[in-house]
Amino acid sequence: MDLINRPRRLRSSELVRGMIRETRVSKDGLIYPIFFEEGENIKAPIESMDGQFRYSPDRAKEAIDDCLAHGINKVLLFGIPKEKDEVGSQAYAEHGIVQEAVRAIKEEYKDQIYIVTDVCMCEYTSHGHCGILCGHDVDNDKTLDYLNAIALSHAEAGADMVAPSDMMDGRIGTIRQTLDANGYSNIPIMSYAAKYASKFYGPFRTAAGSAPSFGDRKSYQMDPHNIREAMKEALYDEDEGADILMVKPALSYLDVIRALSERTDLPIATYSVSGEYAMIKNAGKAGLIDEYGIMCESTVSMFRAGADIIITYYAKEIADAIKKGDIG
Ligand code: PBG
Repeated sequence: MDLINRPRRLRSSELVRGMIRETRVSKDGLIYPIFFEEGENIKAPIESMDGQFRYSPDRAKEAIDDCLAHGINKVLLFGIPKEKDEVGSQAYAEHGIVQEAVRAIKEEYKDQIYIVTDVCMCEYTSHGHCGILCGHDVDNDKTLDYLNAIALSHAEAGADMVAPSDMMDGRIGTIRQTLDANGYSNIPIMSYAAKYASKFYGPFRTAAGSAPSFGDRKSYQMDPHNIREAMKEALYDEDEGADILMVKPALSYLDVIRALSERTDLPIATYSVSGEYAMIKNAGKAGLIDEYGIMCESTVSMFRAGADIIITYYAKEIADAIKKGDIG
């Protein structure tokens, strides 16, 4: 037949498919989240996130060695304190859980591993909100002082990068000023810039005990219906000095990643969150889908949408898949 267009010519073998591939994937852009809790000799399975664990700082080595064995050398740390209070004091305590975990890892691994810390209050406040309450509302400007203190304490402990996830207005600017004024002008800020009020965080909140005790996070996290607002949020953060902009969650927000990649020259990160992980993991376990194949395909879709960096609980498995050539 006399067909003009035969796109199948360039699909005929693995070699030619590899040659024309548009999205090139690298494990260098993967960040693995790790949960730390206070105590000793703990490696506790997280029930809501099969295959993930909560570690005490003295067992950080197991978590990090495992990452390095897969070629993953960037991590994002979360802390689960023993004591929570109204103002989340343990979030900025000199010997708080994240600060101790950072010290333990840096002491052992120095620059072999790049540590990003999540800057937020919800794991540390008794009410589970991401800031300081005034009645039932989260007081934006009061919260900023606390976020500055948290970010500074992480930098002092040795974090390489801080990632504010609270969604208060103006926090990138004030954290930047605080870090600069204290001699940390070289510490970059990865802003959770477009962070949506999402049900996909459910398994994380169970793991971290950080669900709000009343109400929801809709007065600070974004409405899933909006994309122009995401551009506005992200570009404000860029103006305030963010070094990397994040879109979160990932899979249901690929359009936001794409749109942002056309509006900014900053690197774009996306967080494939706990609910995304749990859906793929559990559907795979139930024999309903091919877990490995879907992990690979969904990872490619995030890079294809325009993400440079992916934060994912599958980081180690994805690194293996890249090595095997199952993701290009
Ligand atoms: C802290 C924070 C959350 C996540 C990352 N940082 C929870 C939330 O906003 O409720 C969610 C990560 C995930 O679901 O994997 N604010």
